[in-house]
Amino acid sequence: MKEKLFLKKSIPELLASSMEGEHQLHRGLSSFNLVTLGIGAIIGAGLFSITGMAAAYHAGPAVTISFVIAAIGCAFAGLCYAEFAAMIPIAGSAYTYSYATMGQFMAWIIGWDLVLEYAVGAATVAISWSRYLEKFLENFGLHLPPQFVMSPFDSVTTPEGAVITGIINIPAVVIVVVMSLLLIKGTQESALVNNFIVALKVSVVLIFIAFGWAYINPDNYVPYIPENTGKFGEYGWSGVIRAAGIIFFAYIGFDAVSTAAQEAKNPQRDMPIGIMGSLAICTVLYILFAHVMTGLANYKEFMGKDGIAPVAVAISHTSFLWLEQGVIVAILSGYASVILVMLLGQARVFFSMSRDGLIPPIFSEVHPKFKTPYKSSALFMLFVSVLAAFVPPRVVGEMTSIGTLFAFVLVCIGVLALRKTNPEIPRPFKTPFVPLVPILGVLVCFAMMAALPGDTWLRLAVWMAIGLAIYFAYGIKRANAPAKV
Ligand code: ALA
Repeated sequence: MKEKLFLKKSIPELLASSMEGEHQLHRGLSSFNLVTLGIGAIIGAGLFSITGMAAAYHAGPAVTISFVIAAIGCAFAGLCYAEFAAMIPIAGSAYTYSYATMGQFMAWIIGWDLVLEYAVGAATVAISWSRYLEKFLENFGLHLPPQFVMSPFDSVTTPEGAVITGIINIPAVVIVVVMSLLLIKGTQESALVNNFIVALKVSVVLIFIAFGWAYINPDNYVPYIPENTGKFGEYGWSGVIRAAGIIFFAYIGFDAVSTAAQEAKNPQRDMPIGIMGSLAICTVLYILFAHVMTGLANYKEFMGKDGIAPVAVAISHTSFLWLEQGVIVAILSGYASVILVMLLGQARVFFSMSRDGLIPPIFSEVHPKFKTPYKSSALFMLFVSVLAAFVPPRVVGEMTSIGTLFAFVLVCIGVLALRKTNPEIPRPFKTPFVPLVPILGVLVCFAMMAALPGDTWLRLAVWMAIGLAIYFAYGIKRANAPAKV
């Protein structure tokens, strides 16, 4: 059994199989395309929703510092991703890297964990989408019944003082279903469409910063770091670090660039540029955006349901109210692309795992006409819809963050391990300052994980325990035997 746990895929074989006939993807993406691909996957609910919640309950205006901390962790992890992506430029991301480098067991752990990043992440964005849709309709005087736009764990108080508890979040389910059906039909989301959506999202962020700047009320920055309430994570420095773990969500997606390695013109050079470039641009935009947002409105205004659509709250403090509808339309369409990328990432990882025999073949059954893993997408449509319908945004958001941070920690460790075990493999891009950078990556990402609430840790533990049970009951027995390195 020990043999099986550490079975590895051979990197030369992996590379060779990626060149074969139908698996060979067109190498058409330039470094510019990769940067825009990254930005398209990155800017979403993290910025437009979670920033408000993190400021309201944890960091106040100092959420800007949280963005800096999270960016540092991502930069270290990003450099490690870049080494793997340039070395093994194959679709499948962290799952494939770990199968080739750390063996089957770690590959399973990462593959299972990535469900949190992709599927649970998609549910988070869908919930935020629903809130912005509600806002959009409200501005036209149309009010959706509150019971049907919230999970049963959320409630609102009406102006008359009545408390209404949610039943199901229907708009969130609708967007998940629509995006899943698109995926099943097979969308070749062209670079052109992606570039258009990226331009739209970046414009919205820049317009918000430019128009909002003059309306900043400096009083809102006092105190910049609100005093800790006595509880870990509620304001003060512990709050800033907890907020970093929470808004880390906003940076998720730059690793999606690595999944396109096989389609890059010159992966050796372009992978690091794509990953680090998209990360750098988003970091600058995020800090400025959060600065304006918490300057326009007091952080306490982002408490409750309004915190899920904080951009609307902030804009209400300017005289550019017309801006709100335009911004919301851009946010709604921008989210659609994030959800699509996440569902696609999920499909790709489970497709690879199923091909390897670690999970049932149903996840790699391809539709005869559409040529997509339709059964897998349909099952995830169901899973993500249930989460989006019945789970509060905080819970899914934090699950996504902790799960992705965990994957990043493992990728950083993987770089270290592989330098020891296989120093001879050619590395077109090398993570600089090894072992310092991977070690700092592990430390910063782990610190953010550690600052997340205990219930989020418990959920991670339960999820991983379920995964281990499935692995030992099924995966380890059925896995195909890949060649050793
Ligand atoms: N970073 C992506 C978002 O914020 C996941 O929506």
